[in-house]
Amino acid sequence: DRLPALLQRMPKAELHIHIEGSLEPELIFALAQRNGLTLAYPSVEALRAAYAFTDLQSFLDIYYAGASVLLHEQDFFDMAWAYFQKAAADHVVHAELFFDPQTHTERGVDIGVVIRGLHRACQQAQAELGVSASLILCFLRHLSEEAAFDTLEAALPYRELFIGVGLDSSEVGHPPEKFARVFAKCRALGLHVVAHAGEEGPPAYIHAALDVLQVERIDHGVRSVEDPALMQRLAANRVPLTVCPLSNVKLCVYRTMADHQLPALLSAGLCAMVNSDDPAYFGGYMNDNFLATFDGLPQLGAREAWQLAANSFEASFVPAAQKAVWQ
Ligand code: HPA
Ligand code: ZN
Repeated sequence: DRLPALLQRMPKAELHIHIEGSLEPELIFALAQRNGLTLAYPSVEALRAAYAFTDLQSFLDIYYAGASVLLHEQDFFDMAWAYFQKAAADHVVHAELFFDPQTHTERGVDIGVVIRGLHRACQQAQAELGVSASLILCFLRHLSEEAAFDTLEAALPYRELFIGVGLDSSEVGHPPEKFARVFAKCRALGLHVVAHAGEEGPPAYIHAALDVLQVERIDHGVRSVEDPALMQRLAANRVPLTVCPLSNVKLCVYRTMADHQLPALLSAGLCAMVNSDDPAYFGGYMNDNFLATFDGLPQLGAREAWQLAANSFEASFVPAAQKAVWQ
C-alpha cells in the first residue's frame, strides 16, 4: 500500500497548531528543572498517564499547567524549534502557529519574551529547515473582552511579528459575540482573523464567527455537519475549516475515528484540511494525524490526500504567488 508514503511525503501546510500544545512531557520536565520549578507530577510517565481527557475543559486544565514551565525567551524558542523539527520531518513546508499570550502574561511573563522567542524559532525554521512560518495571537475566550483588548495593546509593539489573531480555550458559554469589538479593531489593524468554532459549540457559533467576527477561517468547525444551510454557505464561500482529527477523538467529540465527519465535509466541497492542534497531548504530529485519519476512514484515498494538501495551501495566509508554487 503506497498511501502511507504519499501521506508522509506530500508537501503540506499546518494551520491549526497551538505551539504550547507541542510541549512534550520530556521538555516540560527539562524546562521545570532549568527554571527551578517543581511540578505536580513526579515523573514524565506520571504526567503522560494524566493525558486521558473526557472533553475540552479536562484537556485545557492540564495544558495550561504544562505551559507554566515557560518563563524565558529561550524556553519559547526551544519549544517552537522542537515543533519545527517534527513538522519538517512530516513534510510540512508552511506552518501558522497559534500562541496564547495570556497564559504567560497572567504568570508575569512579558509578552515580548513570548513573541521574540517564538519569532526567532520561525526565522531559524525558514533558514535551516526551509519551513516558512508565521504567528497568530490567540485570545483566551474564557477571559473578558477587556483582557483581550489589553493583550492586543501589549502586543502592538510587535505588530510586524504576527500576522493575525484567533480565539481559543473553553468554547461553550463564550460565544463569538463576546469578542465583536476587539476583532473589529484587529481587522482595522490589517490583521488576519480566525476563531475556534463548532468544536464543542453549536453551529450557531460558526455563523456568529462569520457574521460578527468576520473570520477568514473556522478552526475545527466539525459541528457544521448538523446544519445543512451552514454547510452550503461554507462550501459556496470556500471558508476553510482547520480540522484536527486526533484532537476530536481524544476530546471525545467523536467516539472513534470511524465516526469522524471529515469525509462528509470533503464530499460537500468544503475547504477542509488536516492539522494536529496539540500534538504532544493528542497522540501525534501531522503524519500521525494523516495516518490515523486514513486508517480509520478507509473511504479516504489518494484523491482525498491530494485534496487535503491542496486545501491546506489554499487556506493559508501566504501571498498568492507562493501558493501557486506549492499548489
Ligand atoms: N480548542 C480550544 N482551545 C484550545 C484548543 C482546542 O482544541 N487547544 C488549545 N487551546
Ligand atoms: Zn485548537
